Amino acid sequence: MTVIRKATLSDLEVLCSLEKHCFEKKRFSEDHVRWLLENPDATSYVYYNEDGIVASIILMRLGMIGKVVSLGVAPGHRRRGIATELMALGESVMRDRGATSMHLEVGITNDTAIMLYESLGYEVVREMPRYYSWGEDALSMKKPM
Ligand SMILES: CC(C)(COP(=O)(O)OP(=O)(O)OC[C@H]1O[C@@H](n2cnc3c(N)ncnc32)[C@H](O)[C@@H]1OP(=O)(O)O)[C@@H](O)C(=O)NCCC(=O)NCCS
Repeated sequence: MTVIRKATLSDLEVLCSLEKHCFEKKRFSEDHVRWLLENPDATSYVYYNEDGIVASIILMRLGMIGKVVSLGVAPGHRRRGIATELMALGESVMRDRGATSMHLEVGITNDTAIMLYESLGYEVVREMPRYYSWGEDALSMKKPM
């Protein structure tokens, strides 16, 4: 059985642990995840299955823009459509809140995520040199809704 529910501050520890498994060194700090969980413009969901919380998505609404801030699926659970399901939920939630397009940034070498987003209809808008604090360039991607 799988369940998707809204994340709360009580999920901070498990979300940080998921960040560690999904992003190795390139991840949000605990303080940043806490700030997102407490931010009224942000919405986060966790995905449960028989192994516990194995995926999450963090979204933020910025005016008429819906932003995917973070998306991660634990390594042993990938390629089963979990990210696709979380993205569909995120887009639906943002649309209901008045967003007319979805935006995200993805590491320029993160081919897996770029393939996922392209499969969902996202297009590259521009390159963002040294976007990440560790110096990596990003692609800014967008999908009209
Ligand atoms: C990117 C990530 C979220 C994808 O999660 P997922 O649940 O495996 O994705 P899905 O099963 O929904 O994949 C949907 C489609 O994306 C593409 N895709 C996903 N993983 C892929 C891979 N390893 N190779 C090629 N295409 C891939 C495929 O088109 C796939 O459809 P298909 O399986 O029918 O061919 C996951 O690999 C992850 O957590 N990576 C580390 C964290 C990360 O990079 N997050 C994104 C940050 S911007």
